[in-house]
Amino acid sequence: MVFVPAAGWAVVLSVLLPASDAVPVSCVTRDQPNAIAELYPGSATGILNATIAVLPIALELARQVVPAQYNILEHAYRDLLPSFPQGMYPLVVQGAHDHDIQLKAYNLTIPDFSRVGFEFPFLDLLGDGYTSFSWHPAQLISAQNAGAIQGSEAYGTLVTPATFEPSCDAYTPGGTSTVFRAVGTASASNSSSACQKHYFADLDFAVATWPAYPLDFFKNVTNQPSFANGTQCDQQIRLFGTDLAKAPYEPRFVEGRVVASMLPFGERREWAVGVYGLQIATPFVENNYLVCQSLQGYAGVDIPGI
Ligand SMILES: *[C@@H]1O[C@H](CO)[C@@H](O)[C@H](O)[C@H]1NC(C)=O
Ligand SMILES: *[C@@H]1O[C@H](CO)[C@@H](O)[C@H](O)[C@H]1NC(C)=O
Ligand SMILES: *[C@@H]1O[C@H](CO)[C@@H](O)[C@H](O)[C@H]1NC(C)=O
Ligand SMILES: *[C@@H]1O[C@H](CO)[C@@H](O)[C@H](O)[C@H]1NC(C)=O
Ligand SMILES: *[C@@H]1O[C@H](CO)[C@@H](O)[C@H](O)[C@H]1NC(C)=O
Repeated sequence: MVFVPAAGWAVVLSVLLPASDAVPVSCVTRDQPNAIAELYPGSATGILNATIAVLPIALELARQVVPAQYNILEHAYRDLLPSFPQGMYPLVVQGAHDHDIQLKAYNLTIPDFSRVGFEFPFLDLLGDGYTSFSWHPAQLISAQNAGAIQGSEAYGTLVTPATFEPSCDAYTPGGTSTVFRAVGTASASNSSSACQKHYFADLDFAVATWPAYPLDFFKNVTNQPSFANGTQCDQQIRLFGTDLAKAPYEPRFVEGRVVASMLPFGERREWAVGVYGLQIATPFVENNYLVCQSLQGYAGVDIPGI
């Protein structure tokens, strides 16, 4: 099979490594291996082990930070969450460890990395009134992973290089509570607006007393095609129905606290009450740098493990 990557891959491929030359990892992750690379050789595949939480914010605030040309599809999130408070919007924060990423057709791998950012789902990128896209304007990404940073910047994402705790896992394991922290590492000499070390995120969660949002809500928001500056779109298919979501790795509904200073909000913000989320590891199949218009009407795909 001849596989021609989309233009943006040129950026990423230039920093990807042949599998055999992969940089040795300095700590050993608890994440399970990518078992689907061979099934989808022409796509990037990997494991995303994540904390995904809903941060209810005033719809008016969402309206202020989301670029004015994108309508918010309120009916789409009310379809999924009929009792979500009136006048509110479900901002999402996701802190994740990306593991065992491969582009099999090229025998390529990319070293593991961590990342965190705010995600704005249910946006009408195409102006069609019904296709939901998720806006991912900014991310903190593991500073040593130039490939991941450039791959994200190719979308127009404002990327802050960062260090993470824990450094090679999705969150601290064991016990009932978990910690995930990211701190920007930008050098003082770089005056880029994204590259500032005052950016950080702390996600502290514990097992929830009840599942405030259904699993399908998290599946829906993480499967919406994403964009940053709107030039190109990312179709990341997250598989919620594989062995990685079964015992002993079953997803956990969590509740907790998020404190962060990340774009597109200028200032430090804290959410400490009514913050519910999910911790789940999903294999993913990712098609990068797509023409956004090609995803009109996208409602997910039907592949094994979805
Ligand atoms: C996800 O990460 C947590 C924390 O490191 C770990 O305990 C869990 O086993 C991981 N799950 C999978 C399926 O890799
Ligand atoms: C990938 O590796 C396999 C096994 O070593 C080899 O048969 C194949 O030709 C390689 N493909 C590419 C595109 O390098
Ligand atoms: C979006 O970002 C990409 C990558 O930095 C850049 O090439 C493109 O010109 C940007 N587009 C807009 C509309 O800002
Ligand atoms: C400054 O930081 C930005 C964002 O992290 C990065 O894209 C850019 O390459 C950096 N510039 C230099 C000169 O290091
Ligand atoms: C998410 O839910 C909305 C509202 O029901 C639906 O229109 C959309 O197709 C779903 N998207 C995905 C990727 O599942």
